Amino acid sequence: MSLTTVAGGFIFLLLLFSSGAVAIGFSLEDEKAQIERFQQYLRIQTAHPNPDYAGAVSFLSSQARSIGLKILTLEFTPGKPLLLLSWAGTDPSLPSILLNSHLDSVPADSSHWIHPPFSAYRDSDGRIFARGTQDDKSIAIQYLEALRNLKGRRFSPLRSIHVSLVPDEEIGGADGNEKFVASKEFRMLNVGFVLDEGQASPTDEFRVFYADRLPWSLIVNAVGAPGHGSKMYDGSAAENLMECVEAIVRFRDSQFDLVKAGIRAGSEVISVNPVYLKAGTPTPTLTQKGPSRDVTGRPLVTPTNASNPWWSIFKQAISASGGKLGKPEILSSTTDARFMRQMGIPTLGFSPMANTPVLLHDHNEFLKDTVFLNGIKVYENLISALSSFDSDVGV
Ligand SMILES: *[C@@H]1O[C@H](CO)[C@@H](O)[C@H](O)[C@H]1NC(C)=O
Ligand SMILES: [Zn+2]
Repeated sequence: MSLTTVAGGFIFLLLLFSSGAVAIGFSLEDEKAQIERFQQYLRIQTAHPNPDYAGAVSFLSSQARSIGLKILTLEFTPGKPLLLLSWAGTDPSLPSILLNSHLDSVPADSSHWIHPPFSAYRDSDGRIFARGTQDDKSIAIQYLEALRNLKGRRFSPLRSIHVSLVPDEEIGGADGNEKFVASKEFRMLNVGFVLDEGQASPTDEFRVFYADRLPWSLIVNAVGAPGHGSKMYDGSAAENLMECVEAIVRFRDSQFDLVKAGIRAGSEVISVNPVYLKAGTPTPTLTQKGPSRDVTGRPLVTPTNASNPWWSIFKQAISASGGKLGKPEILSSTTDARFMRQMGIPTLGFSPMANTPVLLHDHNEFLKDTVFLNGIKVYENLISALSSFDSDVGV
């Protein structure tokens, strides 16, 4: 029988809360080449735990070279390269446009796939199967193909356009985008607006995300009086812990009720999920959370109203490309976009994948060839409109 008055019990919780258009058709030949380049990139084994960053960077660099972009490879962490591609604008004093995509993918268990996850097999319906088709190798190739087409049309951007291809997003981005946004190389880009990944949409409306949810992990340690297991007594650690769990469950229910009643979207409530529960052993206390405000003290939210001129340009460019846009959303998970928002830079999460089931991190992730090709045109409109924005509001 222990004499210590600190008896242990803890619960680990995971909380997430919100704080000029030109449409040009492609020839069949162009389309075939664009799809082939997408497939080539998909076949590079970029899944964790050992993503082939060197292979991805080498492939994307060769693409950038053929397009005529300036190429810079940065390595903030050995073995984790970050590729930065640039097209200088005619007025480099204006803040630039940054298009971001991560190089890495989550793992895929091939036993659950109808086609091997790194085969990029295209079936008779045009569905291209591969890990990364949606998350997010499609946007990397779409950015590049859009830039290739704009170069081919002798388009001349007013603002500089940069593409960042970053490592480690899928494992938190600490050695990738987090280090990048804190670097002098990033500061020198003078970024005024960012497009990053979004998600597929099962309807004909594209989805756009103006904030990511913030993950907070916390451990609740319960203490209480010790006592013999055969005796009735009040205030034991396990009893105290259960009271805490019950309070959490009630709060969870109240949030979930809002979602079930259709009052809030799933990403607009505080979700709380007990993920690990242990009682009886003392443990170190640990809490972990990211910032909820940017460097200027504002919430990590990109305005999607008239106060943000980039938003109007973005919206207009989408309609000019014939696309529809859904109501702006908060992303239910986190992406690298939070690092840019933390720097106070307006950042939208967007992947042009309408009429596509949401399959990120799922088995049999695929993207239809027609959806992929249409996305290139959407980015041509977006990039030309954003990089031509001549007001210095974004300074
Ligand atoms: C625009 O949106 C931001 C962020 O959601 C909000 O704080 C601001 O009041 C809105 N401004 C206008 C003019 O509606
Ligand atoms: Zn992603």
